[in-house]
Amino acid sequence: MTTTPALQIRGIRKSFGDLEVLRGVDLDVAPGTVVALLGSNGAGKTTLVRILATLIRADAGSALVDGRDVAQEPARVRESLSLTGQFAAVDGVLTGRENLVLVARLRHLSRPGDIADDLLARFSLTEAGRRPAATYSGGMRRRLDIAMSLIGDPPLIVLDEPTTGLDPQARLEVWATITALAAGGTTVLLTTQLLEEAEKLADRIAILHEGRIIQHGTLADLQALLPPAEIEYVEKQPSLEDVFLSLVTATEQDAR
Ligand SMILES: Nc1ncnc2c1ncn2[C@@H]1O[C@H](COP(=O)(O)OP(=O)(O)OP(=O)(O)O)[C@@H](O)[C@H]1O
Ligand SMILES: [Mg+2]
Repeated sequence: MTTTPALQIRGIRKSFGDLEVLRGVDLDVAPGTVVALLGSNGAGKTTLVRILATLIRADAGSALVDGRDVAQEPARVRESLSLTGQFAAVDGVLTGRENLVLVARLRHLSRPGDIADDLLARFSLTEAGRRPAATYSGGMRRRLDIAMSLIGDPPLIVLDEPTTGLDPQARLEVWATITALAAGGTTVLLTTQLLEEAEKLADRIAILHEGRIIQHGTLADLQALLPPAEIEYVEKQPSLEDVFLSLVTATEQDAR
């Protein structure tokens, strides 16, 4: 039995003027998994997810979302994928519930009110749902934003730095939300600069560096790349941070 990958990226390249941001990105995401795309500021994470969401076009290469090519069938791709951007799409003047109802209407779904109430309950926002979103904390706003992206049940959701700018408590709330999504079978691609976030949430971790995916695997696969460090007779597994920094430094040395 073959299953269509939720996402299949081959040789994606993208430059802005002279700046080569993506230089041949390859990545597969299996359905029902959580993949973290890890990279420093400016690595090209947002550029890649904007290509997947059909907001910009790649210069070369291909990307299939649920078997559909982003360049050839953008409308179909937009039905299968929902992007929650680095900057929230929530309208602060509307209540949480109104925001959800609006998106459900835009997607021509029947019973938008029921959809909104169901999502508010799932994201523990039932009480808050009656208030304007401008009064929400950062964590509540981000949860509402993620809830909005689930309307219409897209099989793949892409979260661009879902917890950047949130305090530790709000971050934990969003992490719980993502864990619950994954448990429900939604495929999640999230970008992050936070190594701990990747460690906590992801089934597999892909490291984007200098325009390419330089490593992709489970946390254990990545840890196996470095020998365990010995500290006073206690074996310590390298943290993802050790692996990340070592890989990034190694490719920088190769490039010289
Ligand atoms: N529309 C654009 N025009 C020119 N340069 C751009 C454009 N979009 C992105 N870039 C540049 O491409 C590089 C990658 O940007 P991108 O936003 O994809 O990085 P990122 O990995 O998402 O970073 P961050 O972690 O800071 O969000 C940066 O150097 C950025 O300045
Ligand atoms: Mg970004």
